[in-house]
Amino acid sequence: MDTLIEQARAAMGRAYAPYSGFYVGAALLCADGSVYTGSNIENASYGATNCAERTAFFAAVHDGKRSFTAIALCGGLGGQIRDFCMPCGVCRQVMREFCDDDFQIIVLGPEDQVQTYTLGQLLPGSFNADSLV
Ligand code: THU
Repeated sequence: MDTLIEQARAAMGRAYAPYSGFYVGAALLCADGSVYTGSNIENASYGATNCAERTAFFAAVHDGKRSFTAIALCGGLGGQIRDFCMPCGVCRQVMREFCDDDFQIIVLGPEDQVQTYTLGQLLPGSFNADSLV
């Protein structure tokens, strides 16, 4: 997973974040071993901003990927990692669309500390396709 974390860190440098100055990078590992990276892309309307995780997911899904193993992410003001950048609620819901409870979410913190969660931990009792009954 070290490589995935480094890919997330590199992706952070490609963020377009002129409004918040908060740079986020993500690297998404697909079940077939391929990796898609993403960064946050902000918008003057603010609301049209896309998070790094969703940038990575949407690129992968657009490319035909449907099965995912893990995502690494990191972020901070000016690209300085001062805390663990947890995925926002919208990104957790997008993960839920394509991932089971055991999907791994790897978050890089200060001094190269790493925390690993499952999607089941971060989005318990969620609404998903099975809820549409
Ligand atoms: N952001 C992400 O890219 N991912 C998250 O999970 C949390 C927030 C971005 C959105 C916005 O560009 C900036 O961080 C500040 O909220």
